[in-house]
Amino acid sequence: MPLQALRGTTDLLGDELARWGALEHTVRRLAQLYGYQELRTPVIEEVALFLRSIGETTDIIQKEMFQVRDRGDHEIVLRPEGTASVVRAYLEHNLHKTQGFTKLFYLGPMFRAERPQAGRLRQFHQYGVEAIGSSSPWVDVEAIVLCMKMLETCGVRGATLWLSSMGCRDDQRRSAEQLRQQLAPHETELCKECRARFEKNVFRILDCKHPSCQAIVAKAGLGKRSPFLLCEACQAHFAEVRRGLGVAQISFDDTQVFARGLDYYTRTVFEVRAKGLGAQDAVAAGGRYDHLVEELDGPSVGAVGFAAGIERVLLAAGEHKVGTALSTRRGVYLAVAQPTLTDKAFRLVQQLRERGVSAIMDYDGKSLKAQLREADKTECQFVAILGEAELKQGAVTLKDLGAGSQQTIAMDAFVEEMSKRVKTICHSLSPA
Ligand code: HAM
Repeated sequence: MPLQALRGTTDLLGDELARWGALEHTVRRLAQLYGYQELRTPVIEEVALFLRSIGETTDIIQKEMFQVRDRGDHEIVLRPEGTASVVRAYLEHNLHKTQGFTKLFYLGPMFRAERPQAGRLRQFHQYGVEAIGSSSPWVDVEAIVLCMKMLETCGVRGATLWLSSMGCRDDQRRSAEQLRQQLAPHETELCKECRARFEKNVFRILDCKHPSCQAIVAKAGLGKRSPFLLCEACQAHFAEVRRGLGVAQISFDDTQVFARGLDYYTRTVFEVRAKGLGAQDAVAAGGRYDHLVEELDGPSVGAVGFAAGIERVLLAAGEHKVGTALSTRRGVYLAVAQPTLTDKAFRLVQQLRERGVSAIMDYDGKSLKAQLREADKTECQFVAILGEAELKQGAVTLKDLGAGSQQTIAMDAFVEEMSKRVKTICHSLSPA
């Protein structure tokens, strides 16, 4: 019998590889369009990185890590996901000091010792993005918009976005306590694993596939509403994320109860499910992780991101064309004079990106001066300023940083004008 690839791993060749190339190209271009820079991290890392980030009681840590001893007696691990490595690299390279708010994307293989089946591999591949250094709900909105745009452009049709909030750490403690009280009368009837989860990771019980646990959850009516009790600040953050998604015209379902398999999440969490994939229908997932940077010995800054499983995306795309060729350059920085103009600005940024013009904006209420400084640093070709005066006039002020000139442009003509002026042939981003 000739040797074969290990179970749960695949070779890529021929037409299939061409589809991968198209997907990778599309993901890179779209990520750049939204202001994300590529980062490549090693596939091997210290075990401690994942123990400290993913959480010791999660399935990944307990059952799915490919752990190896190197030639000494040093334990290393094949990375099971990308977020922890991105945060490690962000801190190791001092990006928190040199860049502040940092937007990074990655593509590459991940490893989990799961039982292989259709859409579930032991070596699979993810593309993902991480925006580190902001707590603004608009950054969540932007990441979700990008996630949906990437899927659509890669040929995934009719995917559903599930959205929820897990609240802050205090909310999670209160919610866990309440859930424990609700489940306590049935504790002895839970499966062995869930009895262990009861104290350490009670939310995972809601997600258990064991029939007796599912029956307990159903009987107690726990699978129907989110187990998370949100404080006022977290409620407001979540409301703003939902409102922002409305502004961006992204539909979502916030009634589903789902658990994320990683412990670092706080506040916003989401999963995107595609049709026709059977049990493994989550094509992409992500959320906010406001404590991870600090827990890995960095500053206390908010962060949010997502990752998609490339194999699943391509399965879900089926016969649809994957991606389009497009090229972008750093186009426009949209500076907002007051936070009240964020809605309007976000819509303009979205329209620019739809036209293939790379556009970025601030979500943290920075002063106009600070935004102009940032625009300079990010080497944008243009800065467009939107203030009350401009809004009254129905115009934006446009500075050409290369030419050093300034002019006023009618708001209606702005997007069209920018797509002509940004010196790139912008192919259409809409799927063919
Ligand atoms: P995750 O939900 O563990 O999140 O994985 C994200 C996606 O990777 C899943 O939705 C799925 O498409 C794919 N995936 C996961 N495991 C497998 C597998 N065994 N075989 C095939 N595909 C798989 C994360 O990894 C987080 N790091 C996402 C994130 C980024 N959160 C914040 N930033």
